[in-house]
Amino acid sequence: MNVISRELVKLVEACEKARVHNDNKYRLKFHLMPPTGWLNDPNGLCQFRGEYHVFFQYTPFDSTGGLKLWGHYVSRDLLHWDYLGTPLMPDQPWDCHGVYSGSSFIENDQMYIYYTGNVKFPGDYDYIYDGRGSNTILTASKDGRTFSEKQCLLEMQDYPKNYTNHIRDPKITKKDGIYHMVLGARREDDHGAVLLYQSEDLIHWSYEKELTTKESFGYMWECPDLMEFDGEWFLGICPQGVKREEYRLQNIYQSGYYVGSGNYLGEYELKDFVEWDMGFDFYAPQTFVDEKGRRILIGWAGLPDIDKEYKNLTIEEEWQHALTVPRVITKQEKKLYQYPVEELKELRTSKVTLASKDKVTIEEGIFDLEITEIKTDKLQILIADGLTLQYEDNVFSMKFTGSIGAGRTERKAIVKELSSVRVLCDVSLMEVYLNDGEYVFTTRFYREDAPMTVLVDSEDSVNTLWKMKDMEVNYEK
Ligand code: FRU
Repeated sequence: MNVISRELVKLVEACEKARVHNDNKYRLKFHLMPPTGWLNDPNGLCQFRGEYHVFFQYTPFDSTGGLKLWGHYVSRDLLHWDYLGTPLMPDQPWDCHGVYSGSSFIENDQMYIYYTGNVKFPGDYDYIYDGRGSNTILTASKDGRTFSEKQCLLEMQDYPKNYTNHIRDPKITKKDGIYHMVLGARREDDHGAVLLYQSEDLIHWSYEKELTTKESFGYMWECPDLMEFDGEWFLGICPQGVKREEYRLQNIYQSGYYVGSGNYLGEYELKDFVEWDMGFDFYAPQTFVDEKGRRILIGWAGLPDIDKEYKNLTIEEEWQHALTVPRVITKQEKKLYQYPVEELKELRTSKVTLASKDKVTIEEGIFDLEITEIKTDKLQILIADGLTLQYEDNVFSMKFTGSIGAGRTERKAIVKELSSVRVLCDVSLMEVYLNDGEYVFTTRFYREDAPMTVLVDSEDSVNTLWKMKDMEVNYEK
């Protein structure tokens, strides 16, 4: 069995830190990224005793991925973060090939953490239908720093029979005094689904039913998330194997939610699938409700098994990927809107009002741009050398020309009306919010030596740009 010690992780982090910290080209200034190496899904998101906890899938040893551990950041205000190391390591027979994704649930003044322990048995297996253990594991914490002994709650024989070995990513909700767990799954007939379990004590779980669509929508659903808004339940999923389209579903894997009808315990029909994000880099988001009652989403600004023509240039700098900023989710009509948490406005410094076609250069490489009162049906935002955001003929597009896209060209969506645009730009990662968060586009980009410049070309709108200061991330705790 592979046992990797925290001491080894610390050594690797100490060795690589200088390299990653000295990456002046692409290193991010207000997004959480791995201390070194690879990061994927946000995990265990919660606010516990005032502190926000952001865990993440982490492979410190290799910026192209590998054995997964959980890394851990905490903050009191979403602006000052401490990196606390790797609380969950693969160190048990039921999680030895990866501490996979999972979530937190706060109850009894404790943080309960559920995750999937990945095991690949030696042998000639395909690891889809055979040879893999996907175990549901619990550990708990009273202080958000130290974690109890791990307990394996569900193993392969506890899952229904007509499923493959791909069952993972537990997330908990509570309804009428009963706890419910959703798990993402791949059925043997290659039909993605969510398994619903219930429990009265957070430890003993029994299978209730499957949540899925009649027609298959992808062969596998990852990272499920049940979200309640005014008594209506939305089911977030990340389907794999969905056919790509021109104006939506453009990435290799998808990420979005179903607008459910009614309560997931009764007759629950999954109606329309809405994508969270139309950009190149977004996957595996997770939501949680904070102590102010806000439902906050953080996504992985990246994707697995990415298209071959794209080369993430930070791999050479010994790191890869980041998390999105925290976004508040609100329900408007039948749709969920996402908008950066208010706290981020604290990072704004000097403000400039831009007339159409004014070009500004931002030395620090980071800015927050708001375009409001749009009274034109055509506009363009030119960023650095070769990144264009454009609205024309009811289509919003994000286009790359030249090396800035590192092999990527265009993402686009049909947007009937455009009332506002907000661009949060962080050196090599950009989040674009349209219509106060009705549509979002997240993407990486690589400026090489081009300065960060912005030009808004619009006949009638108010264009305000703020320079920004860095978020504080302390790695010495
Ligand atoms: C999503 C995912 C999860 C899994 C984790 C492993 O990106 O594939 O389903 O738990 O990543 O790192």
